[in-house]
Amino acid sequence: MDELAISLQHISKCFKRYDRPIHRLQELLFPHCHKGQEFWALNDVSLEVKKGEVLGIVGRNGSGKSTLLQILVGTSIATKGERHVNGRISALLELGSGFNPEFTGRQNVYFNGQLLGLKQAEIEAKFDEIAAFADIGDFIDQPVKTYSSGMFVRLAFAVATSVEPDILVVDEALSVGDEAFQRKCFARFEAVQARGGTILFVSHAATTVVQLCSRAILMDRGEILLSHDPKIVIDQYHKLIYAPSDRAAALRQEIRDCQHLSRSEYFKKNVSVIGKKSKKGDRFASDKQGLEFYDPELVPKNTISYVPRGAKIIKPRITTLDGRQVNHLVGRNEYVYTYSANFFKSASQIRFGMLVKTVSGLELGGASYPANSQHLDEAEAGMVVTVEFRFKCVLNPGVYFLNAGISGVVDGTFTYLDRAIDVAMFRVQPQRDRYGSSIVDFLIEPQIEVCEYNEQVKLESL
Ligand SMILES: Nc1ncnc2c1ncn2[C@@H]1O[C@H](COP(=O)(O)OP(=O)(O)O)[C@@H](O)[C@H]1O
Ligand SMILES: [Mg+2]
Repeated sequence: MDELAISLQHISKCFKRYDRPIHRLQELLFPHCHKGQEFWALNDVSLEVKKGEVLGIVGRNGSGKSTLLQILVGTSIATKGERHVNGRISALLELGSGFNPEFTGRQNVYFNGQLLGLKQAEIEAKFDEIAAFADIGDFIDQPVKTYSSGMFVRLAFAVATSVEPDILVVDEALSVGDEAFQRKCFARFEAVQARGGTILFVSHAATTVVQLCSRAILMDRGEILLSHDPKIVIDQYHKLIYAPSDRAAALRQEIRDCQHLSRSEYFKKNVSVIGKKSKKGDRFASDKQGLEFYDPELVPKNTISYVPRGAKIIKPRITTLDGRQVNHLVGRNEYVYTYSANFFKSASQIRFGMLVKTVSGLELGGASYPANSQHLDEAEAGMVVTVEFRFKCVLNPGVYFLNAGISGVVDGTFTYLDRAIDVAMFRVQPQRDRYGSSIVDFLIEPQIEVCEYNEQVKLESL
């Protein structure tokens, strides 16, 4: 059990369903009179999660995800089976759990902090940080019942992660927030991971699961159908969602069978290459329009700035080629990511860097200037330098974040002169007649053609 964070063995959970509330009471008073119908929300589920794993949980509504998490956290007791948990667990379960709607946000922070095992003084010490993370302003002293679901989840997440849990459990809550808040949450995920912590979360967002998780499980009808590489699990999950109902039983078995395939065996078996004749035409001419603009609301909320040690990064921003500041971009157009560097100490061997990331923190690409083996020899104290990175926006619609960094030698040591994480953000706008999916825009030009009509094809499928 030493290297395991969680071990669930043969867990089953039975709920009783009653047609009328009075039936529940009758059965309670007269145990021999069976009025309820048994319903098994979990059926012989076994799951081991190693310390440091990030486990994604997917499955259709009603498949048992929340029930599983509740048993894991301990807010619900399994009908059968054994549960072992190794370490402090902190959970953000479905909206409503854990908070008392009549109390203010502040009172709930204290109340929940105590439930999570913190002492009064510890909560006091952390309170400002929790309130700052939740970012709900004066609402912190209003009853929680007046909160929007977004405010509610901000506060709940701030409390759940402030206790530095060994195991963090999050049930679908993050989908409520906007991207800047989600980025903040994923940064907290990274902090939990960096400390060697374990994360389990339920999500419907395929890209998030694929990017973030080391493993995923697919739940269906109270069973774990598959526990595998996140990409494989998401593929099969999508197959299951879109399957016609008469195919579902066979498909479930096919999914279970994937369990025995290694990652490479799976991809060999499941990916086929379909040839395509490519013809270039002006139908796909890019539709560049000057539709970029700047939205003052679209700014990162969790910029992490390091203590500058020789230079300071200021005014990071994106502009059009003619210098207009923008943060809503048009895919395939060109822009400039720019910042200024104020050198307050003289430095040598200087290099400037940038990095683009997704909301979940996946690093997509960046650059450092001058190139790898070169650098700017010298900068004197008092110098102000403008750094410009011109780039082509080959990204599909979505929200992206930027880092900036300056490295060099100051006071005889090689170090970051300044570094800022999530210092700017931008949105790539959706566009009509674009086919791209996922993150990178490969400038794909799809085309289909009816080649022939063949009666035999019709018969083959029967
Ligand atoms: N307290 C309960 N009483 C009766 N049935 C319940 C209860 N909680 C959950 N269920 C049932 O158990 C099944 C699994 O629910 P749940 O774990 O919430 O699924 P998911 O989170 O995957 O959507 C559902 O059919 C749900 O109706
Ligand atoms: Mg649920």
